[in-house]
Amino acid sequence: MAARLLALFLALMSLGQGTLTQYEEEMSLGGTLFLVNRDFVLASDYKPEDLVVPDVRLTYPDTTMRAEAAGALEEMFAAAKEEAGHTLIGVSGFRSYGQQASIYERKIKNAGKKQAMLLVAPPGASEHQLGLAMDLGTPQNQKLNQAFGDTQAGAWVRENCHRFGFIIRYKEEWTDITGYADEPWHVRYVGKEHAQRIFEMNIPLEYYIDTLRQVQYDGLTEQKR
Ligand code: DAL
Ligand code: ZN
Repeated sequence: MAARLLALFLALMSLGQGTLTQYEEEMSLGGTLFLVNRDFVLASDYKPEDLVVPDVRLTYPDTTMRAEAAGALEEMFAAAKEEAGHTLIGVSGFRSYGQQASIYERKIKNAGKKQAMLLVAPPGASEHQLGLAMDLGTPQNQKLNQAFGDTQAGAWVRENCHRFGFIIRYKEEWTDITGYADEPWHVRYVGKEHAQRIFEMNIPLEYYIDTLRQVQYDGLTEQKR
């Protein structure tokens, strides 16, 4: 275990100072590593400037996400089809603060506050407002429920989405950290390099970003010595 952690730490170090400095810059709203959760919320008027409709099968034709993430989604959907014969469908991408507020309030009405908090982010706290998340379905199921994770398409996404720059953001074993239940259908774009590392480390984004911060801090401290 210690050896594995060390190897992972060294792998992170190999990102180099350039990437770590860039990471610092990426904490701005434009960056793919921007952390959004209940502690780090977006301004109500935040809306990415480069939203596009990805050229994939969609439940709603006006579904958008940021351009880089949309390109990666297109690659992933094509690979799912070519490599494994799976048809994926984009169900929900960018959501404005107002749309997220409506979804959250509706869920509270239907399921009660405790359950709603496990399933839906409050307005400002959703990665969907970042334009870097997409909820996935199949032709048989676009309801965003646990059944997606049990399908072969869901398993393919779990094992392969990192190759295209996406991570599975919410897993059952991370609920105490992320605040949310298992969401096998929700993929978050972070770019290929980070996605590969997060997949190998199998840690939530909160921990990954903390680790990068720590590496950066250690690097700066080292330089001062
Ligand atoms: N379902 C996720 C947590 C969201 O609402 O962003
Ligand atoms: Zn989602």
